[in-house]
Amino acid sequence: MSEGKTPKEGVMSFKNIPITNANRLINHGPTILITSKLGEKINVMTAAWQMPVSFKPMLVAVSIGHERFSHKLILESREFVINIPHLEMIKEVLCCGTHSGKNTDKFKVCKLTPVKAQEVGAPLIEECIGNIECRLYSHHEAGDHTIFVGEVVAASVKESIFDGYLRVDLEQAKTLHHLGGKAFCHPDGIDLA
Ligand SMILES: Cc1cc2nc3c(=O)[nH]c(=O)nc-3n(C[C@H](O)[C@H](O)[C@H](O)COP(=O)(O)O)c2cc1C
Repeated sequence: MSEGKTPKEGVMSFKNIPITNANRLINHGPTILITSKLGEKINVMTAAWQMPVSFKPMLVAVSIGHERFSHKLILESREFVINIPHLEMIKEVLCCGTHSGKNTDKFKVCKLTPVKAQEVGAPLIEECIGNIECRLYSHHEAGDHTIFVGEVVAASVKESIFDGYLRVDLEQAKTLHHLGGKAFCHPDGIDLA
């Protein structure tokens, strides 16, 4: 237990925010494009809510609203791909986050190129800088979203953009981090090594 300062009483130095905006404080992981495929239908959606969850096995999680077309495709096909877009793709990222594949071919409308993945039916996106192919490991209900946990079965990157430690060369590409609405930031990069 800390024997240092006791917590201050009295005037709150924090301002309350709506509980519904609390996620924005931890939103800053890279915004991703999730691809899925069921039968002949392929789809892509934007997601900011994602995280790594296990090394052995290697698991990653994404949180997807029940209403999303991608929700149905992932639940039924039990596969998905996490694609990593970059700053120059901000228009495409917003496009994939504001149209539904229920009634749109988003690859056409948002001008993205699907390419065959190595291990799963869902496509990779040519314009992205990296991808993680996943088979559904488990899924968990969380309010109006489902947390899909994927076991990583393949992963690849645009080689020239990443170094041996999988650090992005920020001169070549910057990942996009969602702040809310149409606001994003991108990393500056600090390397203390
Ligand atoms: C920047 C951004 C981040 C988003 N993050 C998520 C998310 O993490 N989870 C989610 O379910 N929807 C998220 N959305 C909304 C979906 O991308 C959007 O509802 C999309 O139309 C769903 O496509 P679909 O119906 O083809 O699956 C986000 C949208 C934007 C623009």
